[in-house]
Amino acid sequence: MKRKIFQFSFVVFFALLCAWNFSACNEQPKSSGPVDAQAIFIKRCATCHGSEGNLQMSGAKNITVSQLSADEIKNQIIHGKAGMPPFESMLTVQEIDALTAYCMKLSGR
Ligand code: HEC
Repeated sequence: MKRKIFQFSFVVFFALLCAWNFSACNEQPKSSGPVDAQAIFIKRCATCHGSEGNLQMSGAKNITVSQLSADEIKNQIIHGKAGMPPFESMLTVQEIDALTAYCMKLSGR
């Protein structure tokens, strides 16, 4: 009798282990898939810049006529400037890169 309970607990143990493993394998990595720059822009930047980049709310510059280089834009997203907040702690490196490219695209470059 004791042996049966012992065997049974083994079965339960392995069943749980399999279930746990299965869910661990199916978990989606956090940074899967390409970054959707437009979606992030609308969520994080459109309040001041508008969804087209030309809103100029509360002193925000019109991104569609920006003359800044990609490096300067990236720096400004990271560190902010005047009325623009720094986004370093809010965005991943990939998101900042994608937004930089998106701003270049908005300004026709
Ligand atoms: C709270 C309002 C606000 C938000 C949110 C904001 N900005 Fe700005 N942004 C500004 C202001 C103000 C300026 C002008 C700063 C200055 O005086 O040079 C600016 C300037 C810029 C410029 C420089 C344009 C140029 O030619 O000088 C870029 C590029 C830019 N923002 C991109 C972004 C991006 C990308 C985001 C989202 C991650 C964002 N901004 C979010 C207010 C904001």
